[in-house]
Amino acid sequence: MSGGEHRWWEDAVVYEVYPRSFADSDGDGIGDLPGLRSRLGYLADLGVDAIWLTPFYPSPLADGGYDVSDYRAVDPRLGTMGDFDALVKEAASHRIRVIVDLVPNHCSSDHPLFRAALAAAPGSRERSRFIFRGGRGHDGELPPNNWASSFGGPAWTRVPDGQWYLHIYDTGQPDWNWHDEDVLALFDDVIRFWLDRGAAGLRVDVAHGLFKHPGLPDDSGGSPHNAPSAFRHRPELQELYRSWRAILDSYPAEGFPGARTAVGEVWYDAPGTLAPYLEPGGLPQVFNFELIMARWHTAALRGAIDGVLALADGSRAPWVIGNHDVPRPASRYRLDEGFTPGMARRLESLGQQNAQLGAQRARAAALLLLALPGSAYIYQGEELGLPEVTDLPDDARQDPEFLRSGGRNLGRDGCRVPLPWTRTGQGFGFSAGTPWLPQPAGWGGYSAEAQSGDPGSFLSLYRAALRLRREHPALGRGALRWLDQSGVPGSLCFAREPGFVFAANADGAPFRLPPHREILLASGPVGDGGLPPGTAAWLSA
Ligand code: NOJ
Repeated sequence: MSGGEHRWWEDAVVYEVYPRSFADSDGDGIGDLPGLRSRLGYLADLGVDAIWLTPFYPSPLADGGYDVSDYRAVDPRLGTMGDFDALVKEAASHRIRVIVDLVPNHCSSDHPLFRAALAAAPGSRERSRFIFRGGRGHDGELPPNNWASSFGGPAWTRVPDGQWYLHIYDTGQPDWNWHDEDVLALFDDVIRFWLDRGAAGLRVDVAHGLFKHPGLPDDSGGSPHNAPSAFRHRPELQELYRSWRAILDSYPAEGFPGARTAVGEVWYDAPGTLAPYLEPGGLPQVFNFELIMARWHTAALRGAIDGVLALADGSRAPWVIGNHDVPRPASRYRLDEGFTPGMARRLESLGQQNAQLGAQRARAAALLLLALPGSAYIYQGEELGLPEVTDLPDDARQDPEFLRSGGRNLGRDGCRVPLPWTRTGQGFGFSAGTPWLPQPAGWGGYSAEAQSGDPGSFLSLYRAALRLRREHPALGRGALRWLDQSGVPGSLCFAREPGFVFAANADGAPFRLPPHREILLASGPVGDGGLPPGTAAWLSA
């Protein structure tokens, strides 16, 4: 395919579904694939081009399904392979594509190959698929190196014969050894398995991980979090991604779902670290997390956007303001700071303070997200303006970030609370049973039902924005030109051709809108006094 052709994923709006929290069809309190299928009409009305499903594979749930025990099956609690096929088929009837999550850095400690490794002797073929080592210290009683688990505590667990195995995440998530040929072959098969079943693409978990420095040297601890290191951003990754790209490109670009994509989850210290991933011929896309990490401040937001645009536009590096790993935007924007792990605890301490401010900024952020060049991802519930739930009882929490930090880190359960569909009723329409995470008492006020007919609601804003985005020739792929509003503190304004202007007042005094013909959409009231702080508008020019 020539570079000039339009591939659907270059300007797609993709909706992230966390299946366990989306819709439950059988009353067991856990969202499932038939539940999701029953709500495809809602997603079609919203106007998304694709859905990304976080893991729905068999899993002991040490990490919300990112501990996979069978890469080629559906967790029976979530449905059957027949349900997956029916979902893909029915989604296609709405012209919605399905992206599945590929989890290649680690599996579950219940995976048959890891069980076989545990049963085998040190030095065996079975162990070489994972990263087993002897320990340090007199009797090997100390871990082989000083690496820490991303969830807290050491990245090593000792097994009865005295060896240790590496897990950059939870103990239940042993890291694969990507220098082993079997592992390469296994994942080639897994990729083909889902693409053959009609998946339009893959979201690649921990795409900056996978390869570890063979010497497993100690971490100096001196570099910024997510900087290149012995276990992040290794150069071997790019060859692997070129081989995956060849698999993706072996599927027909014509027809539906069209050219297959893969979007890497690459956390980075500075945008420049993304550069190797954006070389031609590698993964089609990598997320850019700039809007998640930038604080709510004009210069910070503009700097974040420019930092990505200097490397690629959003067609290769899609934009996001939230996902299932970070506090929800409507709550995050109550603070004037970008996302950092541990932020949920500070949100908890705010109580109800700044709740309205957060929601107002989240609406403005949504219009920014959807006006930037390229593709954008929306996490389920963002379109409802759901807040982070910070008061879940400790015994209901399931996130290893909470459990492994002894509660110091509140973890990510607060952005995974099952969606409210109806104003009232059991589970607010999510489930006829008891939802796997408790929903707050006021959840029904955020429900799709409560917001549907209300022109001032979050849901109406998202629906209108997605409709305009589809219709307006300037939106989606392309470029932006900053409009010089220098001297106007707080202004974040750019033009896109033909005839579109975005204007936001992040944090300054109200200012006059840039020259325009009409206001197409605004995140809040825009009166004669100008564009108030925390407000964005889409204008025709
Ligand atoms: C990123 C996923 O989004 C997150 O939920 C998970 O805990 C880690 N990767 C480990 O798989």
